Amino acid sequence: MERNQVLVPQAELDRQREFETAIREMFSRREAHPVACVDTFGCQQNVADGEKLMGMLRACGFTLTDKPADADLVILNTCAVREHAEDRVFGNLGALTHAKKENPEMVICLCGCMAQEPRVSERIRKSYPLVNLVFGPHALWRFPELLWQVYESRKRVFSVEDEHGTIAEGIPVVRERGVKAWVSIMYGCNNFCSYCIVPYVRGRERSRDPRCVLQEVRELVESGYKDITLLGQNVNSYGNDLEMDYDFADLLAEIDRIPGEYRIRFMSSHPKDATRKLFDTMAASTHVARQLHLPFQSGNDRILKEMNRRYTRQQYLDLINYAKSVMPGLVLTSDVIIGFPGETEEEAMDTVSLVDEVGFDALFTFIYSPRPGTKAAEMPDPATRQEKQKWFDRLLEVQNARSAALHEQYIGKTVRVLVDGESDDPDYPLASRTDGNRLVRIKGGPELLGQFVDVKITASNTWALYGER
Ligand code: SAM
Ligand code: SF4
Ligand code: F3S
Repeated sequence: MERNQVLVPQAELDRQREFETAIREMFSRREAHPVACVDTFGCQQNVADGEKLMGMLRACGFTLTDKPADADLVILNTCAVREHAEDRVFGNLGALTHAKKENPEMVICLCGCMAQEPRVSERIRKSYPLVNLVFGPHALWRFPELLWQVYESRKRVFSVEDEHGTIAEGIPVVRERGVKAWVSIMYGCNNFCSYCIVPYVRGRERSRDPRCVLQEVRELVESGYKDITLLGQNVNSYGNDLEMDYDFADLLAEIDRIPGEYRIRFMSSHPKDATRKLFDTMAASTHVARQLHLPFQSGNDRILKEMNRRYTRQQYLDLINYAKSVMPGLVLTSDVIIGFPGETEEEAMDTVSLVDEVGFDALFTFIYSPRPGTKAAEMPDPATRQEKQKWFDRLLEVQNARSAALHEQYIGKTVRVLVDGESDDPDYPLASRTDGNRLVRIKGGPELLGQFVDVKITASNTWALYGER
């Protein structure tokens, strides 16, 4: 796909800003003070999309609330990655359509990854007549126009066509207040892991221009954000589609030269594209956190092949050993799937043994969930839910013991943390994060929020560290 077909033309973007003005003026003529609620499910990529939706809504004249019942317009920004995520959305949709019977003027929108699945958009079309607007991630940048159509035509609007995918710059954003910010550096995925729905709903990989990314990070640092996460489904393939010799390590090195007191993180990385150059760049940087989220999914080579992951257990181990050798103290996290179709107990135990061997600081663990339309959903899956649950529990047991032991090693040490929130624990009222993104609950008052401080770790458990200044 040619680059100029991927970039949304400026004139089109300007047109969307005009729709925002038109909607704002419409409300002003009606002397209405509309309120909107964006309810986001799923990964950070979706959270970043939710911030753009809020930015566009504000430009349309809405104030924002986080209570759907108080809103004139509710957006469910959905996730399709597992069945459970979809079930939650349908549950919410049921409640909302009920609320709309009380308040018939309420506008209900469904967007995000589920909306891009034909199976879901058809179900909404047939069974949820009170939903006004349905659009997938490809149409996000056209939200003002779609919303205008809803208000103008009073008809239901669907924008869910399958596409390669585009890049739209300059969409207004409302960010969470505080010190953390998300920056998408690329969109889509080309990997087609056999269990995963993401490539079908997010389109092909496309990288933002490095100058736009650098400008955004610079502005964030200047406005006081201190913990910035670069996002992409596989940041390690950043730049492959740019018409220049430039990769993710080059981008990180350039970002690192931006002056200021801040941390840079990134997620996710795919082991097949992680390079020694990347780890060397991280090790030589000032601002890049010594933290790596490198999903391995399975510790068994046959399952990895069936998953279409394109690396072996040994290659994965070699990679992280290299990363640890250039970054001592590296904090390592990962994603794992138990119960892939056809997986045997022995194969699942290979995953458990890899977890034991590596000693991850934390793990995001999932039981396989069939996604209609993916290759794995067609594969025979003889193991029962109970068997898979048993393997999963074994995995958690090993990981929890590992996390607890790793956390215990911090006791007595002094670590630098960024205080990023308040906690509900009266003895440790503040929440903070180490460079490696470990949660540290600390004593102290709200004046510390947003600051980097040194704390001595005094206690720990499986999930958190506890400390004092
Ligand atoms: N692109 C990232 C990567 O490859 O690491 C993550 C994508 S996905 C949003 C996050 C995690 O969900 C995956 O790493 C995988 O462990 C899990 N996942 C994806 N599809 C799944 C499925 N069908 N069933 C269970 N877990 C799944
Ligand atoms: Fe899904 Fe694999 Fe792409 Fe990650 S790399 S989004 S797991 S297909
Ligand atoms: Fe879910 Fe879409 Fe993210 S499927 S995990 S919200 S990319």
